[in-house]
Amino acid sequence: MEKRSPRIKAMLTPGEVARRSGVAVSALHFYESKGLIKSVRNSGNQRRYSRDVLRYVAIIKIAQRIGIPLSTIGESFGVLPEGHNLSAREWQHLSSQWREELDRRIHTLVALRDQLDGCIGCGCLSRRDCPLRNPGDKLGEEGTGARLLEEE
Ligand code: FES
Repeated sequence: MEKRSPRIKAMLTPGEVARRSGVAVSALHFYESKGLIKSVRNSGNQRRYSRDVLRYVAIIKIAQRIGIPLSTIGESFGVLPEGHNLSAREWQHLSSQWREELDRRIHTLVALRDQLDGCIGCGCLSRRDCPLRNPGDKLGEEGTGARLLEEE
């Protein structure tokens, strides 16, 4: 039988974290490889997680659902002290930052959708005439003349 320190004893196995959080053990290992969560090793060199990892995994899942890149999640977690139990106030702060990111993406997607409306789908994919190839008539802003002939 494994001899465990009281601190390690209170920790969760990868299987327990997976069951409680609803993510696969392989996902936990992946999050750990990206520095999003941390584990310690017991005397048998097995991973053990502190209970606060459940909150972090929940936040990672939410962030991924709304399309926040893992690198952004990592940056947000990176400013927190190691082993920190995330408070409700800190979660509010994180989510408000991600809301701004989400707003920016929505704005970009709406602009792309509108350009798609302007594309008649004729198949020309013209760098001059197709709004998806030439968003906001960037070529026109760069100057007059046969700019495409000069470039191509
Ligand atoms: S493909 Fe022709 S306008 Fe977009």
